Parts: sequence; structure tokens; C-alpha cells
Amino acid sequence: NTLVCKIDKDNIDMEKIKEFANILKNGGTVIFPTETVYGLGANALDEEASKKIYEAKGRPSDNPLIVHIADKEDVYKLALDVDERAKIVMDKFWPGPLTVVLKKKSIVPSTISGGLDTVAIRMPSHPIALSLIKESGVAVAAPSANISGRPSPTDEENVLEEMNKRVDGIILGGNCNIGLESTVLDLTGDIPMILRPGGVTLEDLEKTLGKVEIDPAILEKNENIIAKAPGMKYTHYSPKASLCIVFGKKENVIDKINFLVDEGTKKGQKIGVMCIDENVSKYKGEVIGLGENLGEVAFNLFKVLREMDKRNVDIIYSESFDKIGIGQAIMNRLSKAAGYKFIQA
Ligand code: TXA
Ligand code: MG
Repeated sequence: NTLVCKIDKDNIDMEKIKEFANILKNGGTVIFPTETVYGLGANALDEEASKKIYEAKGRPSDNPLIVHIADKEDVYKLALDVDERAKIVMDKFWPGPLTVVLKKKSIVPSTISGGLDTVAIRMPSHPIALSLIKESGVAVAAPSANISGRPSPTDEENVLEEMNKRVDGIILGGNCNIGLESTVLDLTGDIPMILRPGGVTLEDLEKTLGKVEIDPAILEKNENIIAKAPGMKYTHYSPKASLCIVFGKKENVIDKINFLVDEGTKKGQKIGVMCIDENVSKYKGEVIGLGENLGEVAFNLFKVLREMDKRNVDIIYSESFDKIGIGQAIMNRLSKAAGYKFIQA
């Protein structure tokens, strides 16, 4: 049986937090909100507990988990070689949507690190996540709280729909305000490398660290390069319908998508369209606006993908977005959800 409870992040009920913290202490699994997406947590240093995460998600066990802490100093318990660069980014971006990859200490079990000699660590800023981790007294391994391959849940409804009865506890704490997962930054090489773009942007990191690279494997689909973050190689974030990204000049994109909607409709298909809010009225089909700007698109993206599933569309066409700021993360998730299907308008 799953203990499900609403907690108000602006007025945290510590009695309830304690109940969930006890589940974690006793080797159970708890879903909780973070500022990026909901996480599915268990004690990171308890191998049996972390195995339950892989089971609940149906996740391949070579895909390592992010370890969440509530106190910056805890990084030293988990990682070796915490260098100047790590200290600088931890000071600047923690608590927040940045995960750092460092050499792991031996107390981190290989179930967590997917057999790598590194560990990914993040201190989230969400008040519920922080009080839960603090109260549990353990480091909390937590991937996004979705069935493996599905879009990450960012709201209460989707968490419940997908994960109820699959875990020991669920904390419902409202919407995740960023909506896309944290940036994963590898600090084990000479030049810091973004393994997964996210809430902290390339521009933010360059301002702080100077030269920062992006793992070339995540910029395009290329069978010959293997992504450094094991999770990036799997199909991911996928809606049930086939998704396709249409790019090109703005007017051309609108014409092309409307042409494709007509074509599909003639064949008796139901066609979804995802676009920036100002273009909603320009499209035919099942049109859903993603927001007015890139921040809103990030916030809404996973939710809209799930909404398209609920509307039972057969094909989804999405507008493309500039890879500026959070746009890099948006296009990374969107391209993966589309299985890298692009159409030039
Ligand atoms: O925002 C987030 O990061 C959310 C919330 C819950 O904190 N968590 C999350 O976890 O997105 P998950 O497991 O869905 O994604 C973790 C990503 C995967 O792509 C994984 O391969 C990568 O981080 N990763 C984890 N440990 C790694 C390591 N030691 N080296 C390289 N990549 C690693
Ligand atoms: Mg995930």
C-alpha cells in the first residue's frame, strides 16, 4: 500500500515529512517533488533500497542514479577529488538544478553508479525535497519518477496516475517550477562537460567556469558516438503517438504543419500540434500551446506530451525552438521524445 499525502511547500507539515523520512530510513521508496521534476527516492547507500527504484521504474540497471543531499558538506562523504571547480559551482548553483559528476568514494554502491567509478550528486532547492532528505538523515538516490522511457512527471496528477501502488510513499507537493531535469555536469575531465542540458544553462556555467563543453553525443543522433551519461542513450520522454519536429522559417513552419495536419486528417488520423502560444490560433488539429517563452515551454513540455496521450492523437507535430539558454535543454528532450525525427519546412 502506498502512503499518499499532500504537503504544502510554503507551510511544511513536519509530522508528515517525518512519516515519509521514516520510510526512507527503513529502506523504502518515496516519490517527492523537486524544483525540476518529481523524483523517486530511496536510501542511496542501501543497495537493496536502491534496487527497488529500478524495479518501480522498470529501469535498466546500468543507468546510474543521481544522489540528492540536503547539505553541501555531504558531497565529501560521497565523492573524491572535490576540486576548486566543483566548489565554485556548488557555491553558485546549489541548492538548485545542477548535478555534478565526481569520482566516487567506495561507500557509494555500484547499483547507484551503474558500475562507473563516478557518482552524480545534486542538492535540490525545493523545500519539501530538502526537509525530507534532512529528516531522513540519508543521501537519497532519485531518478525522475516516471516509468522508464516516459516523460518525467512535473505535476501531482501525472505522478499519481503513473506511480501509485509502485512505491511506498508519494508526497504531492504541487507543480515543479522548472519542469525539465537538472543539468548534469561532468567534472572528472580537464574541461567541464555538460552530459545533459537542463535548468542551469551552458551560458550560466561558462560565466562561472570559463570553457565548458557539451557532450557531442547529445547534440545530434549519431550512432557512432556514445553518450557519457548512460541515461542519454535510451529512448526517452516518449509520448505514445509518433512525434516529429518541424523546423525552418516561421511562416514556412506554419504552412508545413497545417499541410501535414490536412494530410493526416484525410487519412482519418488525429493530429496534435505543439507550438508557442502566439501561434495557437494559426494551426488546425489538436493544438496545444507550450507557453509564451522558453521558460514556460520548459515548464509545460512534459505535461503537454502526456496531455497529447490523453487526447489519443496518432501523430504530433511540434515547432522547433532556439537552442539559447534553457532552449538547449528543451530541444534535447524534444529531439529525444521525437526519436530525432525532423522535417524541414
Ligand atoms: O532534475 C533531476 O536531475 C531529477 C530530479 C529528481 O532530481 N533526476 C533525474 O534523474 O533526472 P534521472 O535518473 O532520471 O537522470 C539522471 C541522469 C541520467 O541521464 C544518468 O545517466 C546520468 O544522470 N548520470 C547519473 N549518474 C551518472 C554518472 N556517474 N556519470 C554520468 N552520468 C550519470
Ligand atoms: Mg529520467
